[in-house]
Amino acid sequence: MKIGNLDIGRKLFLAPMAEVTDSSFRKICKEQQAGMTFTQMVSADGVVKNNFETLRHFSFNRSEKPIGVQILGNHPETLFEAVKEISKMNPDLIDLNCGCPVDKVCSKKMGAALLDDPKILSSLVRKMVAGSNGVPISVKLRLGKDKSAVNVLENAKAVEDNGGALIFVHARTRADKYDMNADWSWLKKVKEAVNIPVVGNGSMFTPHDVKEMIDLTGCDSAMIARGALGNPFIFSRFQVLMEKGIDPGEPDAFVVRDTLLKHIKNLEEEFGELLALDKAKKHSIWYFKNYTGINSLLEKIFSVKKLDTLRELISDHAERIMSSSKEIHIKEEIHKKFQKKVLFWLTDQNISPLG
Ligand SMILES: Cc1cc2nc3c(=O)[nH]c(=O)nc-3n(C[C@H](O)[C@H](O)[C@H](O)COP(=O)(O)O)c2cc1C
Repeated sequence: MKIGNLDIGRKLFLAPMAEVTDSSFRKICKEQQAGMTFTQMVSADGVVKNNFETLRHFSFNRSEKPIGVQILGNHPETLFEAVKEISKMNPDLIDLNCGCPVDKVCSKKMGAALLDDPKILSSLVRKMVAGSNGVPISVKLRLGKDKSAVNVLENAKAVEDNGGALIFVHARTRADKYDMNADWSWLKKVKEAVNIPVVGNGSMFTPHDVKEMIDLTGCDSAMIARGALGNPFIFSRFQVLMEKGIDPGEPDAFVVRDTLLKHIKNLEEEFGELLALDKAKKHSIWYFKNYTGINSLLEKIFSVKKLDTLRELISDHAERIMSSSKEIHIKEEIHKKFQKKVLFWLTDQNISPLG
């Protein structure tokens, strides 16, 4: 599919995820053939005020392109200025977050609260397009406020009519948050209603899920969030599925180990040992969540205090999996829990998913 002059072919998007899509993870996903990744969402206000944390969150290396930057905001002039500033870094896409269901965001009429009024959304998109110096503007929508107020078709038209280049649709309502299965039937309706590319998002955990969503809806591509956690392989597996008609399946534990160790090295370089450690533990559990022995990894990992100890634990764990006679298997209860609450490792209080 094309975004402006950029052609990403049949590749998929890594969704923006707060506290997850840092440069370390983006690089791993790109190596696994993600077509475009996203920086972590930043507030338009923070961009305009040159807030240090904000700048850190949306900075990226040129080698990471194609890359999108997602912003949160609702004030036309602020969005205009923020987009102008971000466009100087030459990302491939600047996206407006209209999906965050968190109360403290929606109560300020940002995130998913922007779904309520297509006229306001129109004016924001117009302003962003005017400020973007030609960088394509996209919007990440949900279906609407709740099941009785689905207005994604109006919002999608509003994005298209005001110069938006692309629409991401997270096929849940604001009220659904993350728990329900995404309703892909709406993706087909959106695709039929507009002429700009539509990228579907929600409930895709395997390459077959992605193919099924695209086949059912005609969407131009898919955006993967939880399905990529500990599983950057979903991007490369999807490419194989499309080229050869066969999903190569979950990689063996040594491939997982090697990818995870590379990821941890990236984290150490990006954040330093102290900050990297917690992030590395979280990702380690995600990487091995579908493999035998996850409960024993969970028991041991909490007491680890150094990255080198974590590396040893991961290597031993992979050895044990490979030498065990058991097949790789998905532990149903863990898988379900994971789909519902990705953060079975971090508690809900530690992080609130944002879109
Ligand atoms: C940990 C986490 C953080 C997220 N942060 C963002 C965000 O910053 N911006 C956004 O638009 N969506 C965010 N989301 C939502 C995802 O991008 C995606 O729309 C949602 O998880 C549905 O896709 P999935 O069913 O593939 O997980 C986040 C989701 C998770 C799990």
